[in-house]
Amino acid sequence: MPNELNVPSRTLMSPGPVEVHPNVLKAMTTPILGQFDPNFLAIMDEVKEMIKQPFDTQNEQAFAVDGTSRSAIEAALIALVDPGDKVLIPAFGRFAYLLGEICERAQAEVKFLEKDWESSFDQNDVIEAIKEYQPKVVAMIHGETANGQMQELDKIGAYCQNNDTFLMVDMVATYGGVPIHVDDWGIDVAVAGTQKCVSVPAGMALVTYNKRVEKILDARYQKELGLGDDKRSDDPITSNYLDLSQLQRYWNEERINHHTEATTMVYALHEGLRVLINEGLENVYARHAQNNQALIAGIQAMGLEIYGDLNSKMPTVTPVKIPAEAEEDKVRDLLLNQFGVEIASSFGDLKGKVWRIGNMGYSSRHENVLHVLAALEGLLSYYGVDINKGEGVKAALAVYMDV
Ligand SMILES: Cc1ncc(COP(=O)(O)O)c(C=O)c1O
Repeated sequence: MPNELNVPSRTLMSPGPVEVHPNVLKAMTTPILGQFDPNFLAIMDEVKEMIKQPFDTQNEQAFAVDGTSRSAIEAALIALVDPGDKVLIPAFGRFAYLLGEICERAQAEVKFLEKDWESSFDQNDVIEAIKEYQPKVVAMIHGETANGQMQELDKIGAYCQNNDTFLMVDMVATYGGVPIHVDDWGIDVAVAGTQKCVSVPAGMALVTYNKRVEKILDARYQKELGLGDDKRSDDPITSNYLDLSQLQRYWNEERINHHTEATTMVYALHEGLRVLINEGLENVYARHAQNNQALIAGIQAMGLEIYGDLNSKMPTVTPVKIPAEAEEDKVRDLLLNQFGVEIASSFGDLKGKVWRIGNMGYSSRHENVLHVLAALEGLLSYYGVDINKGEGVKAALAVYMDV
């Protein structure tokens, strides 16, 4: 006989997935509605409106794609790109290469603008590269989860808007944790996920786009045969499942028949967004900022070093340089198995050199920050690493108590 599920309790302090908000878990036990039930359609409409708020956008189009964040990233890119189109990808971390991979598979001509991973780009360097390469699309990451760096976007966006270039931005690791201004920054299409600052399980992705993108989608719209009122296109999007032109018409009044909606995930997303919005986005951002400050203070007071430029560090991810005397995976294993705390390793050249501590969504709480600092201090001192014992928690507490 198979055993009943036996899931240990964890403090999730990696940069996603994070702890799911209890209200979200409760919403996920709500009975299923049919996907065209008027009550469910009303829930979808509310979700659409709520998605717009952390994006700070007046775009008409904002909805969810069934699939993890990369589903909407792929949907957005393949909507904009035809074979042979030029795409510029400024890369200051691992996830930029995911954008490139998707565009290359879509047969775009991809050019990476590369730099070290310790800081994000000076916006003027990106603008110069756009002038030189003349891409149709610039695709970039707002917050690089792999190395904890965050990119300024306003000047790049303004340049793209004035020069007939599309700007696609992955905001997966910043949405709901950091102020974002999609319209003011001139972003044509922005994507986020659920499993980070929205405190919802992985499984859906959020997308919003402006009229310029809608125009492209209208031209590429092709309706499946057999539904009636055939609509064919000379240049349909190459994926059926990730076709934003159809998804838009499923989420809007037309309600065309596309996939069967993941009802439970829509409930979860509704609740996750509602909780965020009811907390007040300014308060949400202030909570993340304060917990970020406490984490930085704690790590530094312990005598450990934070990787990368602190001026452009994301508040939602703290990369910590692993001390030479510590074994990367052994420490993480013991954190998990002895303290129930999860943090993450990193990728590429940073693998084995950096631990990443998340500060996202429902996991972004005082007790979690103190727990991860205390556990790390305890383990490092157990292994004889030369740290300032007791100082990390004390410094973080001072951040909380001094307000
Ligand atoms: C910045 C960024 N982009 C994209 C992704 C891919 O997201 P998913 O795993 O939800 O598809 C992640 C995942 O961590 C991410 O941090």
